[in-house]
Amino acid sequence: MQEKLIEQILETLTLEEKSAMLHGATFFRSGAVEGKGIPAVETSDGPMGVRNEFPGDSWFPVGLSDDFVSYLPSNSALAATWNTERAYEAGQVLGEETRGRGKDVILAPGINVKRDPLCGRNFEYMSEDPFLIQELTVPLIKGIQEADVAACVKHFAANSQETDRLWVDTVVDERALREIYLPGFEAAVHRGGTYSLMNAYNKLNGEHCSESKALLNRILREEWGYDGTVISDWGSVHTTVQAAESALDMEMSVTTNFDEYFFAKPLIEAVKAGEVSEEAVDEKVRNILRMMLRLKMIGPKAGERKQGAYNTPEHREAIKATARESVVLLKNEDGLLPISPERLEPGDPDALTGYRKKKRIAVIGRNAEHMHSGGGGSAEIKALYEISPLLGLKMVLGGNVDIRYAPGYFIPGKKSVNEANWQETSLERQVNRRTDREETEEEARQRQEIEKHREILREEALALAETADEVIFVGGLNHDYDVEGWDRDSMVLPYAQDILIEELLKINPHTIVVMVAGSPVEMPWKDMAKAIVWNYYAGMESGTALAEVLLGRVCPCGKLPETFPALYSDTVTGRNGEFGKPEKVVYEEGIFVGYRYYEKEGVRPAFAFGHGLSYTTFSYDNLRVETARGCSAQGDLQERIIKLSLDVTNTGSMAGAEIVQCYVGDVSCSVERPAKELKAFTKVFLEPGETKTIDLELSRGAFAFYDTERHGFVAEPGEFVLSVGGASDRIWKQETVTLA
Ligand code: GLC
Repeated sequence: MQEKLIEQILETLTLEEKSAMLHGATFFRSGAVEGKGIPAVETSDGPMGVRNEFPGDSWFPVGLSDDFVSYLPSNSALAATWNTERAYEAGQVLGEETRGRGKDVILAPGINVKRDPLCGRNFEYMSEDPFLIQELTVPLIKGIQEADVAACVKHFAANSQETDRLWVDTVVDERALREIYLPGFEAAVHRGGTYSLMNAYNKLNGEHCSESKALLNRILREEWGYDGTVISDWGSVHTTVQAAESALDMEMSVTTNFDEYFFAKPLIEAVKAGEVSEEAVDEKVRNILRMMLRLKMIGPKAGERKQGAYNTPEHREAIKATARESVVLLKNEDGLLPISPERLEPGDPDALTGYRKKKRIAVIGRNAEHMHSGGGGSAEIKALYEISPLLGLKMVLGGNVDIRYAPGYFIPGKKSVNEANWQETSLERQVNRRTDREETEEEARQRQEIEKHREILREEALALAETADEVIFVGGLNHDYDVEGWDRDSMVLPYAQDILIEELLKINPHTIVVMVAGSPVEMPWKDMAKAIVWNYYAGMESGTALAEVLLGRVCPCGKLPETFPALYSDTVTGRNGEFGKPEKVVYEEGIFVGYRYYEKEGVRPAFAFGHGLSYTTFSYDNLRVETARGCSAQGDLQERIIKLSLDVTNTGSMAGAEIVQCYVGDVSCSVERPAKELKAFTKVFLEPGETKTIDLELSRGAFAFYDTERHGFVAEPGEFVLSVGGASDRIWKQETVTLA
C-alpha cells in the first residue's frame, strides 16, 4: 500500500520538483512541492535537545523567546547510566521536544566510536565499545520515533576525529569496520528501525562517505536492506554525478546558494545531459516520501500525527533521573562521600547566645557555576535553564550551611558573541589543531596576564579552603575543549587546574574532586585525592543530580562507558600517532580500541571501562550457566545459546543499583582476538538487604568474530571464558563454556 502510494505521488512530480526535495531550501529544511501536497522536511540538531531557531539563510540565530528548550544529558552521560530504559525515555523526551518544536527529523544520536580521548566530539558520542553503543542506540531511536519524528543516526561512518574532518581519509581495515565501527549503525537500522541516517564528513578508505558506493550502496542498502533516508552532513557533498549515483538522498549544507547545491540545478542539468539517470533521482525521492509516510506527514495517517510538546515537567523529571544515574563515583576512600547531614550540622550552641555556627563548604572551581548548554558546536542548546553544581548544592542544602564559592581558575573569554554562528565558516579546511601555530607577541603578553590573574584566583581559593569544614573542587573541561570541529591537543587539564587541585589537597586532604567534562583527562593528583566524582555534561538538572549524589540523597550508580587512560601516552593513538592528523589517518590498531587495547598491551588505565563505585555494597552469588542443547558454533548468530543467572544482593544500608557486565573471551581462535569483549549487561536496582536473580543471555553472535575471508561473522568451536563482574577490571566469577 505504502509503496503503491509512493509510486502514485512520484508519477506526478517533474524533475525540478524531485530535485527540490533532495537538497536544502534553507539550512535546516528541504524543498517542499506545494502544489503536490509535499511538505518540506524540517530538520534540527541535536543530541541534547532541539537547537535554537535560525532564519533560513543566516547563521545569526533569530533570537526568539519561544525556542528555549529542555537540555538533555549528552550521549556520554546517557551511556554512563548503562540503562537501556533511560535511553528509551531520553528518546521519548527528545522526540516529543522535536515534534513540539514542529520539526520532523532530529539530527541525533551521534554514535561514533570514542577511538581517542582527544576527539572534540567525544562528549556527543557514547562509548568505545560497540555493544554498549548498540544496546543504548536502539531504544533511543525507538523513543524518538514514537513521537512521529525521524532519528538521524550520525555520522556514518568512522568519524572519530575532528581535525581536517571534511577531507581526512580514514583508513580502516574490514574487520575493524565490521566489529567496531559499523555495529552501532547496523543495530540502528536492523533493530532500531531508524528512519534516517547522516553520512559523515570524512573519507572512508578513499571515498567520501557522502559518495561511497561501498558504504552507502553495498553495505547500507544492499547488505543491510536499509530503505530509510540518507541525509548528508552539512557541506559533506562534493560532486553531483558521483553523489547522485550513491545512495545519498538529501544534500544539506551551510551556504545560502541553495539553487547551486549539487542536488539542485546541477543535478537537473546532469539528468538532462544523461549523466545521471532519472531513476536514480526517483529512488531518492522514494526514500524521502517513505520517511514522510512513516512520520505521518503525508498519506492516510497524516491526521494522526503526534503533536509533541517541549519544556514539560515530565521531560525535566526524566532528564534529572538520567543525570542522577550518570554520575560516576571513581574513587571514595575512608567513606569521605557522601557528605552526611551530620557533617553539616551547625556547631554546638553558644553558651550565652545559643547561636549555632554554620558549617562552611568551600566550593572551588569555575565548573561549579559554568554554563555548558550553549556550547559544543551543532549540539549547542538554548536551555530553558541549567542548574550548576553550585546552585544545585544551595538548592539541596538550603540556608543552614554556609556555602562559599571561589572560581579558583580563570577561563579566557571566547570571541565576541555578536559574531555569526561558527557554522557559517565550518567548511573552511581546518587542518591544524590549536597548538600548531606559533604564539604571537600579543598572545604571549596575554598569557602572562592570565597567569598572573590565575595566581591571584588560586591564592584566593586556597585561603577560602583554609577556613572551610568541607572543600569541593569542581573543575574539568567545557565546550571550549569538548567541541565540534576541534580536537584537544592533550589530556592535561587546562587553566592550571592541576596545581590548584594539588594545593587544595595539601590544605585539606579530604577535598572532594569533581570533574565535569565530556572526555577523559589526566589526573596526576589521582592518588592524593580520596574522593573523585566524574560528571559528563548531563543536561539542565546536572547540578541538582550532582548535589544529590555528593550529599547522599542519591546513591551513585554510573559506570564509565570508556576507559580513562592514566596518560595520553598510554593510548594506542598516543603511541602510533594515528590520530588528529590531517589528510590521512590509518586505524592501525584495528579492533583493539579502548579496553581491548589496554588489556592486550597490559596497560593499566587510571579507571577501567565499566568502572564505577557505589555508596552501598553488593554480593554476587550462585552464578549458573545453562548452555542450550547442541550449543554449537554453527548456526544462526541470533540464536540464544547461553543463559547466565546470578544472585545480586545489596549488602549495604543504602538503596543502590549495580550494573552486571558479562564479557566473552575466546580461549583459542584462528585469528587474534581481544582478551574479552562486552557481550551482555543489565542494571539491577536493590533496596538494602534485597537480593535479585538477574539473567543474561548470549546469542551465538556473542562468540563470533568477522572472518575477512568469508566476509561474515563466524563463531569457531572451542572454549570460551565468560567473565561476570561490575567492571572490566572487577570480575567476580568466570565460567568456561565450550561451543561444539
Ligand atoms: C554539523 C555536524 C552535524 C550537524 C550538522 C547540522 O556540521 O557535523 O552533526 O547535525 O552539521 O548542524
